[in-house]
Amino acid sequence: MLEFSVKSGAPEKQRTSCLIVGIYEARKLSEAAEAIDKASDGHLSALTRRGDMEGELGDTLLIHAVPGIQAERVLLVGLGKERELDLNALNKATAAAVKALHYRGTTECVSHLTELDIKGIELEQILRQSVLAIDAALYRFDQLKSIPDPGPRRPLRKVTFITPSRRALLEAEASLREAMAISSGIHLTKNLGNMPPNICTPTTLAEEARSLAVTHPNLMVEVLDQTRMEALGMHALLAVAKGSREAPKLIVMEHMGGPADEPPIVLVGKGVTFDSGGISLKPGADMDQMKYDMAGAAAVIGIMSVVAELRLPINVVGIVPSVENMPGGDALKPGDIIKSMSGQTIEVLNTDAEGRLILCDALTYAKRYKPETVIDMATLTGACVIALGRVPSGLLSNHKALAQELLKAGETSHDRAWELPLWDEYQPQLKSNFADMANIGGREGGALTAAAFLSRFTKDYRWAHLDIAGTAWNVGENKGATGRPVGLISEFLIKRARANGHAG
Ligand code: BES
Ligand code: MN
Ligand code: ZN
Repeated sequence: MLEFSVKSGAPEKQRTSCLIVGIYEARKLSEAAEAIDKASDGHLSALTRRGDMEGELGDTLLIHAVPGIQAERVLLVGLGKERELDLNALNKATAAAVKALHYRGTTECVSHLTELDIKGIELEQILRQSVLAIDAALYRFDQLKSIPDPGPRRPLRKVTFITPSRRALLEAEASLREAMAISSGIHLTKNLGNMPPNICTPTTLAEEARSLAVTHPNLMVEVLDQTRMEALGMHALLAVAKGSREAPKLIVMEHMGGPADEPPIVLVGKGVTFDSGGISLKPGADMDQMKYDMAGAAAVIGIMSVVAELRLPINVVGIVPSVENMPGGDALKPGDIIKSMSGQTIEVLNTDAEGRLILCDALTYAKRYKPETVIDMATLTGACVIALGRVPSGLLSNHKALAQELLKAGETSHDRAWELPLWDEYQPQLKSNFADMANIGGREGGALTAAAFLSRFTKDYRWAHLDIAGTAWNVGENKGATGRPVGLISEFLIKRARANGHAG
């Protein structure tokens, strides 16, 4: 991954092989571009006047031999309309800039885009988003092609961001450190998500978690196998695994960075490494997308890497129930009644509603930590994608303040969630004539009845559920894992760590 640093100073004085400066639509130079123009006796304005660059968002123009400045080259980047400049636009411009340089033999650059003023957005977020946008722009997952793209001969290695003032530097360095940790967490989450399901099995996820504990000695990892889970009575989770040849795993990761007596925040991630639907087999179209059904697990693993890397002074536990959902002679069947670890019995009316079956046992297991808060993240329902599309994750919570805190963290990190109701009125849809509950609640409000199901296992603590079915991966042209909601949860945890006040 790239190396990032911050400094302050005038654009014309930067010694670099490429200086990045912005230009708004209708050829309006940004402050930094203006300074270059002045130092070069109108070199930039002469170019724009000739029509080489209008300032359209994401357009780039590489200019050589600009007189009167220290930089070897200047990359002019379109910022779009000045009034419309927001974080989204800045991210687009930043991504376009580094892509332009990456393939043109520039190994190092200095960017003035982080100097731009965006209303209501602090420098910390501008830096964080810039790092994430750059790493995302250069992300590839092609190690499984027999001839992987060798990439540029001289790739971009180092980006220096200019801050508006010298005073901001110290804080900016801390922000960068956080940004790089989050970015590498997202990178890990994306890689796990993009792996094919024949390679990424529950056993692989367990190995990934274990290897994380090797690089981060402050992370404790324990993996429970089928025998241990049987002894705990996790029959809902084990029922889903029955149809598969792959061994189920319950992966537990502990980062005890806070006082020993402080109740932890527990994160739970759905880790279905392939969801065929089981006996209630899914239709064939797009079934390959169900390799991402472990995206919640991948996010929890990525978040734990962020927490460990930043040594956050709080206690955080990650729990990943992981199985493969397959049809087979031993598979769970519609009509089966299983007993969850909580003691509640469940009539399985559809084996494709498997996520809630593994999550309910993990959520019961979470109780042993006497958690301060439990947050689960899961690619739980297609209904959530119908309700919200692919923009926000669905958020349901049994605690108002927690929901607000998460919504806010989503806004700040630009990894947004939208609240959906967790109301008792949805409970009757889960009624079963033969067991304590059914595992499905019919077509209406599918995302809400799924959460209502989970809420029967989370009564003893503050809990929030993120349905990431629409946000964990992109379809179409940008096909691939997004790394969400690592940004949101990292922001939430960093804020918690700061509010906690103990040194860190
Ligand atoms: N993993 C799926 C949810 C899903 C489907 C996510 C499509 C993203 C895209 C989940 O296990 C599932 O199959 N849910 C069912 C529930 C239904 C049977 C009540 C669904 O959403 O159709
Ligand atoms: Mn399913
Ligand atoms: Zn699933």
